[in-house]
Amino acid sequence: TRPGDLSADLLAWYDQHARDMPWRTGPAARAAGQRPDPYHIWLSEVMLQQTTVAAVRAYFLRFTALWPTVADLAAAEDARVMGEWAGLGYYARARNLLKCARVVVAGHGGQFPDNRAALLSLPGVGPYTAAAIASIAFDRSETVVDGNVERVMARLFDIHTPLPAAKPELTEKAALLTPHARPGDYAQAVMDLGATICTPRKPACALCPWHDPCLARARGTAPDLPRKTPK
Ligand code: ADE
Repeated sequence: TRPGDLSADLLAWYDQHARDMPWRTGPAARAAGQRPDPYHIWLSEVMLQQTTVAAVRAYFLRFTALWPTVADLAAAEDARVMGEWAGLGYYARARNLLKCARVVVAGHGGQFPDNRAALLSLPGVGPYTAAAIASIAFDRSETVVDGNVERVMARLFDIHTPLPAAKPELTEKAALLTPHARPGDYAQAVMDLGATICTPRKPACALCPWHDPCLARARGTAPDLPRKTPK
C-alpha cells in the first residue's frame, strides 16, 4: 500500500467517525476548508497534555467563555486563571499558558505564528504542541506524534523495537505517511484512530480503515505492541 492510499483511507474514515470536540470545526465547515481558531487549538492541546478529552471539554468551554480571545486571556489576572485551572493540575503549565498568551499579544500582535519553528519559540510550546498547532490550525504538513500515534505506527508496521528506543523509527514512519492534503485532519484522524479503534488493549481491528495493510493485525501481534523497555 502506498502512503497516499493509507492517508486517503484514514481521511475517509475520519469524515465519518471524527469525534465531536468543542475546538474542532464540524464536517460542513471542514468540507468548506474552514480552519479552527489557533487560540482554541493551542488551549486545547495544552490542556490535553495532562488530561483526557472527556475531562478537558468543560475546562475548555469555561476558559473560552471567560476569555474569548488570546488577548482576553493575556489581560486576565494571574490568580483568576490559576483558579480556573484548578483540577487540571500542573500549575507550571498554567503559568506558561499565561506567559505564552502575553508573548503572543506583545510580540505577535495577538496572532499565533503560523509555522512550526516560530511556534516553538513560544513559552511552554514544545515539539508536539508546535506541530499540532501548525497542522491543525494552519494546515501545515507537520507530523504530530503522541502516544496514540506511536502505538498506531508500531502496529501498522509491526515494529517490535521497544519504546523509548523505537521513537525515531516510529516518528519517521509517521512523517512518511503525513499527507500534503488535509494534514490537520490527518493528524487528528490518527489520534482518534488510536483513541477509539487502535486502543492499547483489545484493538477493534475489524472496524479499522487500516485493517488490510496493518502488519501487526495480519501477524496477530497488535495487542502486544508497542513494546516497552521495563523501567
Ligand atoms: N489528543 C490530543 N490532541 C488531540 C486531538 N487534536 N485530537 C484527538 N486527540 C487528541
